[in-house]
Amino acid sequence: MRSHYCGHIDESLLDQEVDVCGWVHRRRDHGGVIFIDLRDREGLVQIVVDPDTPQVFALAERVRSEYVLRIHGRVRRRPEGTVNEDLATGRVEILALDLAVLNTSETPPFQLDEYDAAKVSEDHRLRYRYLDLRRPEMLQRLRIRSEITRVLREYLDQHGFLDIETPMLTRATPEGARDYLVPSRTHQGSFFALPQSPQLFKQLLMMSGMDRYYQIVRCFRDEDLRADRQPEFTQLDIETSFLDEEQIMSMMEEMMREVFARVLEIPLHVPFPRMSYAEAMSRFGSDKPDLRIPLELVDLGDVMKDVEFKVFSGPANDEHGRVAALRLPGGCELSRKEIDDYTKFVGIYGAKGLAYIKVNDRAAGREGLQSPILKFLPDDVIEAIMQRTGAEDGDLVFFGADKAGIVNESLGALRVRLGHDRGLVERGWQPLWIVDFPMFEWDDKANRWQALHHPFTSPREEHIDMLESDPGQCLSRAYDMVLNGTEIGGGSMRIHRADVQESVLRQLGIDEQEARDKFGFLLDALKYGCPPHGGIAFGLDRLVMLLTGAQSIREVMAFPKTQTASCLLTQAPSEVSPAQLRELGIKLRKPAAE
Ligand code: AMO
Ligand code: AMP
Repeated sequence: MRSHYCGHIDESLLDQEVDVCGWVHRRRDHGGVIFIDLRDREGLVQIVVDPDTPQVFALAERVRSEYVLRIHGRVRRRPEGTVNEDLATGRVEILALDLAVLNTSETPPFQLDEYDAAKVSEDHRLRYRYLDLRRPEMLQRLRIRSEITRVLREYLDQHGFLDIETPMLTRATPEGARDYLVPSRTHQGSFFALPQSPQLFKQLLMMSGMDRYYQIVRCFRDEDLRADRQPEFTQLDIETSFLDEEQIMSMMEEMMREVFARVLEIPLHVPFPRMSYAEAMSRFGSDKPDLRIPLELVDLGDVMKDVEFKVFSGPANDEHGRVAALRLPGGCELSRKEIDDYTKFVGIYGAKGLAYIKVNDRAAGREGLQSPILKFLPDDVIEAIMQRTGAEDGDLVFFGADKAGIVNESLGALRVRLGHDRGLVERGWQPLWIVDFPMFEWDDKANRWQALHHPFTSPREEHIDMLESDPGQCLSRAYDMVLNGTEIGGGSMRIHRADVQESVLRQLGIDEQEARDKFGFLLDALKYGCPPHGGIAFGLDRLVMLLTGAQSIREVMAFPKTQTASCLLTQAPSEVSPAQLRELGIKLRKPAAE
């Protein structure tokens, strides 16, 4: 049908006859001449329809936005003064000799030629996703996504990884989210779970001797959604045998460097810095710190132990408590209202307040400071705060005091928010590894230990003996890759000894019977010569989001779901017929209202 893509028409084709196909991006009538910008995947080209060709002209008069056309015409230079340097095809145009309307279009629900992001809601875009995807930015992101996966595949192929598929209809996997379940017709009352990740299968592949595995694979998690979370998302999933964490991490760094070099032509410095989980929490209140933001938390627990202000002395004397400060350079400028807004913001994370001190004139001592809590703090404590935070004139110091988890989450989030609000985020790429994660974290609600990663993560060799006696002190052999404040990947060395696996499951409150029921196949496989193995999984959508500068992973998925996990395009999930339910042996409970 066509000889060239619209976007490929250039001066090398001058005076040649070409055939192009595409969508009417824009049509303009100019005193007897009709101009059509025709668009295809590769770009736009200007078509000129002249009244000298009356039949073609009559057709062109009837075309509207998003009609699908085929044009046969001659490439010619644009007249002086009408060259468009912004367009790859901007020096030429096609004089139409023939025009066929391949299809008409209703008026699109939003304009594609003068798309105004502020005017089109995301719901509207998702409902008409096939139109939204016609926009060049959307196409560009999917193109980059395709390029990224190509580079990743090439790298892994070159390094001896086998691409192996694993089941979608499977048993529940333990990544900590709720499962999506699929009822079985042939085994009524039983359900498959869609995989939260292929974790156990990739470990079984190592036990099968595959040595190096990868897969670009869909994962399903029924969890609360955010800008960087979707119910179904894609992992680049990797597992290796006989490599240790150093070897795996350095291979993965090299792979990332390759992606950045080839896709963005940006050199990433290797090796990536490493930071322990403890240091990251202490300095940034987060295990995925955005190192582009030059703000840090400072501990004050020791100086607050004896102050009369209970809000501070309470957590300072609680072994699970934390008192910390966050200095904002130039923060004296903040208005009462801005501080109130930040106080509300930290409230989302459970903080009961947000004390602060404005440092107007440090040399003036107490007189130079402004704060609702000044009266509760003795001079030596104030001096310690000033020294530790390094506060200077014009700065503001925020405080958080509570259980350590709440202080970390709230001040950690405030740090990021301030970084963006105050324009402090430095340009560039800041990758790092977070290492030395604890094996377990205490879950107050459930009153038991939970795995910080997943239950198949290996403890450090020298901590195996402490698994039962002091689980809180055990460190794991896990590692997360963080880029600009987003966790883009996480992995670990795995447990390859049956006795250690059983011990870890016991710590997690999974008794022998439950372990056999849920993971019996893995525990059995561990007995038949399991190699030492480890791996990692990257959130591909998140990686693409960062590399394309998108604000949400929905912007880099062709057909994402909404925040409430539905698809506005297909209206999924949907009700099913009584006959289908009967076949599955499922009876729905009546809604409460009836
Ligand atoms: P983890 O649960 O850390 O590890 O997941 C790996 C990476 O997947 C991405 N990710 C998500 N992306 C979008 N939406 C989601 N809902 C979502 N959840 C996770 C993140 C994360 O770093 N089996 C282990 C990996 C391993 O140990 O090898 C796992 O799934 O970028
Ligand atoms: P109050 O005595 O409750 O009026 O609090 C005095 C100041 O301390 C106010 O600025 C509160 O925002 C702040 N504040 C209260 N609780 C906390 C807390 N847990 N962490 C940090 N600041 C707090």
